[in-house]
Amino acid sequence: MSESKNTADSPESATQTQPSNSWPSATTSLFLILILPVITATLIYQLDSFDPAPLPYHELTRRLTRRAPAHNPRMLRGSERVGFGVLRAPEDVAYHSGSGLIYTGCEDGWLKRVKLNDSENPEFVVESLINTGGRPLGLAFGLHNEVVVADADKGLLNVTSEGEVKLLTDEAEGVKFGITDGVDVAVDGTIYFTDASYKYNLKHFVWDFLEGRPYGRFMSYDSATKQTTVLVRDLYFANGLVVSPDQSHVIFCETPMRRCRKYYVQGEKKGSVETFIDQLPGLPDNIRYDGEGHYWIALSMAPTLAWDLAVRYPFIRKVMGIMEKYTGRPSVEKNGGVLAVDLDGNLISHYYDPGLSLVSSVIKIGNHIFCGSIIHPYMLRLNIQQYPTMAVA
Ligand SMILES: *[C@@H]1O[C@H](CO)[C@@H](O)[C@H](O)[C@H]1NC(C)=O
Ligand SMILES: *[C@@H]1O[C@H](CO)[C@@H](O)[C@H](O)[C@H]1NC(C)=O
Repeated sequence: MSESKNTADSPESATQTQPSNSWPSATTSLFLILILPVITATLIYQLDSFDPAPLPYHELTRRLTRRAPAHNPRMLRGSERVGFGVLRAPEDVAYHSGSGLIYTGCEDGWLKRVKLNDSENPEFVVESLINTGGRPLGLAFGLHNEVVVADADKGLLNVTSEGEVKLLTDEAEGVKFGITDGVDVAVDGTIYFTDASYKYNLKHFVWDFLEGRPYGRFMSYDSATKQTTVLVRDLYFANGLVVSPDQSHVIFCETPMRRCRKYYVQGEKKGSVETFIDQLPGLPDNIRYDGEGHYWIALSMAPTLAWDLAVRYPFIRKVMGIMEKYTGRPSVEKNGGVLAVDLDGNLISHYYDPGLSLVSSVIKIGNHIFCGSIIHPYMLRLNIQQYPTMAVA
């Protein structure tokens, strides 16, 4: 009985009785298993219109003679979660020292503020302030008790002390913003901000990296004249920015280029751009000044071999793009963290962890650092006096 079942159900066993047929069958199987997928993949590759560009790879791999900063490669050890479940993907974090509140923008559109119970107690109170109806990313405090919000979907917003949301600007030179991303306000009231990409929106931001063309802009907004001015164009995913404490320049991050650049707003160099720091040990997102001589830069992930190959070879980015469309891209993010640098761009301390990725912002308040995230439902808090960095041997 089992014999008859076998012959009936299984074509392989039928061919086994006729050895003359087994060779073409093996060839067919081989064709199906090995060659056909290759042909299909090649066809998909040829037919797919996605056309990534070469990145200026030489600029990314210049030889450096820089000493590694002191590090803490296990920053999750000792880290606490603040606002778990209530703060959904709190991208940027801004500290209002007058009130002692931390402001953040969540993926559900809510602008929230967090009151810490006291500096050693992780208890907190989260208050929902206002919903922008978009996706608030960068936050900065204006001169009239307003919060200026870089909303990825809506543009640059004024959230007034009366709780109104007013659009300041959402286009420049006739080109709409795609991902309004980072913002800071100078002492004179000028608002500096970035549009990471005018081609893609936040939901599709990964395509901006994969395509490798500079669709980002660094701009200013003057609330007296309501004028939006493009200061630097052709940037690779222009991200977080900070006005220098002496107000002479603004530093902005270009995420896939792993660098931050300086734009002078005063003095002889006014209007010129130079590199502030490059070949960062990770992909920079937001940058903030701590009032004590250091900038803190959030690093969403460390460069991996896969990342390096993708940067170097557009065809790898094309393959990743096709995978993104049809099967999902393998995750390459790890060793995200934060980096403190001094005012001259010297690396001071680097906190990271293999289990940490997509850290989007960091502020230092007293002995603690607070980190935002574009995926996790909480902020991270770490006491850096208890969990310091150590010199790299
Ligand atoms: C801080 O938290 C502790 C413990 O939950 C509580 O007893 C205390 O009242 C809180 N203090 C404030 C100012 O909320
Ligand atoms: C935001 O709106 C408030 C209230 O109208 C105003 O006082 C403030 O100047 C505005 N801020 C900016 C940056 O336009």
